[in-house]
Amino acid sequence: MRFGEGVYHCIKAQQFSHDFLEEICDLADKIRQIANTKAGMEYLSSILNHKQAMLYFVQPSTRTFLSFYSACQILGIKCAEVRDPKTSSEIKGESEEDTVRTFSSYFDLIIMRHPQANFAEKIAAMLDGTERPVPVINAGSGKDQHPTQALLDVYTLRRSFSHRGGIDGKQIVFAGDLLRGRTVRSLSTLLTKYRDVKQYFAAPPEFQIGQDILDFLDENGTDYVLTDDFEAVIKGADAIYMTRLQDEWDGADKTSARVEIERFSLRERHLRTLKADAVILHPLPRRLEIDVAIDSDPRAGYWRQVRNGMWARVALIATTFRRDRHILDYYLTNL
Ligand code: CP
Repeated sequence: MRFGEGVYHCIKAQQFSHDFLEEICDLADKIRQIANTKAGMEYLSSILNHKQAMLYFVQPSTRTFLSFYSACQILGIKCAEVRDPKTSSEIKGESEEDTVRTFSSYFDLIIMRHPQANFAEKIAAMLDGTERPVPVINAGSGKDQHPTQALLDVYTLRRSFSHRGGIDGKQIVFAGDLLRGRTVRSLSTLLTKYRDVKQYFAAPPEFQIGQDILDFLDENGTDYVLTDDFEAVIKGADAIYMTRLQDEWDGADKTSARVEIERFSLRERHLRTLKADAVILHPLPRRLEIDVAIDSDPRAGYWRQVRNGMWARVALIATTFRRDRHILDYYLTNL
């Protein structure tokens, strides 16, 4: 799965190295500068206009789907989509594996969101054994991984801290439903690639971050704190990463209904207690965990995060098809 060794699949956050993250972020910055002009946009849309992508999203999505769709269009890639398996031959009993193998017969890239934790990994391994081993990008898998969200989150943090020495040494608070939020799991993993980042997990005990992530942090020497005192930890935070209640994963016991999630919500009154240069992030969609009035505070970074997602994904797709060097050459020659 590492870049430079055959087909590049993007499956889980653990596969990204610090250097890879920095290269993707640098490339995304350059791509958005290139995209500022008509000539630049025409150049970008010529790079991969011989490629086609399938967006196989069998779980709901607004941002991830549209930002990948938009990223493909920026690079000239033509897209098709399956968002409801009832419209494919899966309804006739075809397996998901055969369905995706069919996609690989027509398309050069498969971007997929799926409720099963290891589905993208399984498909990538299966395609690697076929005559058309096209790249697979995991756009969210079960409760487990959302590696490209983590990539755009790192990109947003890096831009937010560009005048404060970067991500190294920062204090990051994660709040909300951390057990079932795949974005937190992937970002927490990626932050271990940066020096002296301290992670705070503020959650109700029922939805505290999983032990597998804590084991990973321990193995990587990352300092962390588990707490249910949201108001205390946000005061010293450089970044506050809010999340919603993931009640679509509730079982028959409806655990979410018994949890006091309001205590893990950011209200306008909290703003005066935050650091003046803190950044507030949220992968979105949000419900009530961030007051809408906070949107106009300069520390609210979640709408910038949405836009950053598109540019980070353009950089990732270009790199997947080894066009990163090409883009850097264009940048050096023309900007
Ligand atoms: N952040 C995120 O994954 O949003 P969507 O579910 O709308 O894609």
